[in-house]
Amino acid sequence: MNTQIEVEFGTPAESGMAAESGAAAESGTAIQSGAAIQPGTVIESGTAMESWLASRVAVREQRGIIRHDAQRNESMIDLASNDYLGLAGDQRLAVAAAEATTIYGTGARASRVVCGTTQAHLELERELCSLTGQETALAFSSGYAANLGVITALGGPGTLMIYDAHVHASIHDGIRLSRSPAISVAHGDLEAIRCALAQRTQPRAVVVLESIYSVLGDAADLVTAAALCAEMDALLLVDEAHGIGVAGNGRGAVHAAGLAEAGHVILTLTLSKALGSQGGAVLGPALLREHLVNTARTFIFDTALAPACAAAAAQGARIIMTEPQLVTRMHHNAATIAARCGIQKAPGAVQSIPVASSASAAALSAGLREAGVAVGCFRPPSVPDGVSRLRLTARANLKSEELEQAASLVAAAVRAL
Ligand SMILES: Cc1ncc(COP(=O)(O)O)c(C=O)c1O
Repeated sequence: MNTQIEVEFGTPAESGMAAESGAAAESGTAIQSGAAIQPGTVIESGTAMESWLASRVAVREQRGIIRHDAQRNESMIDLASNDYLGLAGDQRLAVAAAEATTIYGTGARASRVVCGTTQAHLELERELCSLTGQETALAFSSGYAANLGVITALGGPGTLMIYDAHVHASIHDGIRLSRSPAISVAHGDLEAIRCALAQRTQPRAVVVLESIYSVLGDAADLVTAAALCAEMDALLLVDEAHGIGVAGNGRGAVHAAGLAEAGHVILTLTLSKALGSQGGAVLGPALLREHLVNTARTFIFDTALAPACAAAAAQGARIIMTEPQLVTRMHHNAATIAARCGIQKAPGAVQSIPVASSASAAALSAGLREAGVAVGCFRPPSVPDGVSRLRLTARANLKSEELEQAASLVAAAVRAL
């Protein structure tokens, strides 16, 4: 029997949850500012859940923010993925994964604290320490789980969380889950961080930044942020998802800033971008690792990372350490893309082009896709500052003719705007 329901807004999944950076995915803010379907609209449908699901589709359609699971098309030139060094298709990683699968099986079978830890996990953690210069590493099943795990384990009413408005969704979600008091500061605003730290009433504070921001492609000033945190007795948590394999000869921005041994600076990373695998990790002092093994729920109550992923990422880390020319090539390719598009090269692999409207950004990316080039397209509300962007990612293994063709097509499309 059909029922009539009133549309309600503001469910957790559609308000304040982020797409790439931490902005609202289908947020209440955008709905308040002009979605055609307003609270109180009556929609005819079946069960209460079906009615509600149908109402959500309608809202997304009205706002032009329907997402699809985009299939990978091998015939397209890829300026959209995060395989910065081309390691996801490297045979050496495939062999490492196959060997680990033969030895340990396809699945880890249990949580790390039950019996899911294998030599592949421990070897991965050793390699990540060698790569970043950190004392210890703890592998998680994803970068998302690593951020959730460390933030909830450090958070609570006695810990103030201060975070840049452009940090990734997983950091926003971790802060919410941690039930910590939290302050979001404008992107790159270290003075606002200082104020928040100076006025805090909580005994502990964590400042959360990304080393290289995933949509904007710019870099945080880690040296100043770390000095500020040291002065104000705060911990600095740096998400190196887009910095590892990219900044500082591949060893990451924290290492490049000379902060690898700073006890008050810790990092998270994903194994799924430059490292060419899947999974995540938290790195820092031994005391932190011990605390996470005992309290990080996404570590304790999650089946361990698949051994194949651990072995592939460990191989990726070894390659980054021994073949820094891959990092150099990726930067060279990024510089070519930036120069051809008339923008200044950003510090990492991500080159970001602001576009006047979300409609133009969508049209540009659709046109490029037609022409055989896949690029990222970020539009409000997925970007916290409301500026639509094309996100182009450089890879070390872009062939020169691919690079030339893709850069020309993107440059022509941007010029025609
Ligand atoms: C900055 C940042 N942090 C964390 C993650 C999550 O990593 P994973 O994809 O391994 O869950 C991502 C990935 O998109 C990211 O860009």
